[in-house]
Amino acid sequence: MRAVQIVELTGPDGALREVDIREPEASHMLTPGSGVVVDVHAAGVSFPEVLQTRGEYQVKPDLPFVPGSEVGGVVRSAPEGAAVHEGDRVAAFCMLGGFAETVVAPEWLCFPLADGLDFAQGAGLILNYHTAYFALRLRGRLTDGETVLVHGAAGGVGTATIQIAKGLGARTIAVVSSDQKEAVAREAGADEVVRSDGPWKDQAKELSGGGVDLVIDPVGGDRFTDSLRSLRENGRCVVVGFTGGSIPEVRVNRLLLGNLEIIGAGWGAYVMNKVGVEREIGAEVARLADQGHVKPIVGARFPLERAADALRLIDSRGATGKVVLEIQRSQL
Ligand SMILES: NC(=O)c1ccc[n+]([C@@H]2O[C@H](COP(=O)([O-])OP(=O)(O)OC[C@H]3O[C@@H](n4cnc5c(N)ncnc54)[C@H](OP(=O)(O)O)[C@@H]3O)[C@@H](O)[C@H]2O)c1
Repeated sequence: MRAVQIVELTGPDGALREVDIREPEASHMLTPGSGVVVDVHAAGVSFPEVLQTRGEYQVKPDLPFVPGSEVGGVVRSAPEGAAVHEGDRVAAFCMLGGFAETVVAPEWLCFPLADGLDFAQGAGLILNYHTAYFALRLRGRLTDGETVLVHGAAGGVGTATIQIAKGLGARTIAVVSSDQKEAVAREAGADEVVRSDGPWKDQAKELSGGGVDLVIDPVGGDRFTDSLRSLRENGRCVVVGFTGGSIPEVRVNRLLLGNLEIIGAGWGAYVMNKVGVEREIGAEVARLADQGHVKPIVGARFPLERAADALRLIDSRGATGKVVLEIQRSQL
């Protein structure tokens, strides 16, 4: 099968090579001897793959390896008792191996794809939307009627967070860096949009009548202290990622003075040994998709052989919504 491997840790420009390799067996590292085999139609591309080309991500497989944590595709075979079956359209989280024509995922990380969603949207469903639900509801304890400030709001996690928050009855304030990204945040359903290079903290306090209830932060860096200042009493700031480059440090007296909380949200690490929690998240995201709230925004599509361009787009802060690789199966 055709696939793209990371062959050296030199960044998006030099790390990738298109290869012809054997198809995987129906076995996944999380479920040895068992797995759902999926014919890939679209593979999701995300920040972790950029980091993997430099050896900077926490998951560091031996070289060479096929990156790609999630796909949209069609089930070729599934183990007995699985919730998905041969011929089903699915969104599948495979962890690695997605930049290929065929991949294997654990049964409990495969979800039927809602009728209204295409394969590219399926490739943008699990990592971002399951993280968004986990961060907002399970970690951030979001309730109906609360106001959420979302950083990096035109990105993959950001657009998913806006849609899930809206579906859970919250009001959303998006923080973005450009006109183009403002348009994407509005397309995702943001109620208000403010600029990361403007007085966003004061605007957020004004727009929320004194402070927001929840901040979802996939960006980190310098803006973190202002995120805490934008919260109302009992406010929570959920740490999701660090695309801004630096990991913020906090003077904890701010938490005491404001009666605030900082909460970590690491979806992958949390659900990997909690199949029940992941099924619950999948069911809630499916419910929100059925209600029309979950509609992944696909910002850029590349053929498999242009995986490096997809990674460069993310690396240069140019991505909006989900970036995907499309596998042209009709030409196989
Ligand atoms: N905790 C978890 O479970 C979990 C799960 C999935 C992803 N993540 C992490 O969440 C983060 C966001 O992922 P994503 O897929 O949403 O990424 P993305 O689509 O590339 O969006 C990230 C956003 O970060 C903002 N940003 C600010 N400074 C940046 C910089 N120097 N370089 C690049 N972007 C910058 C950009 O928005 P503006 O230009 O508008 O500022 C950009 O739209 C990543 O760190 C990822 O590893 C965590």
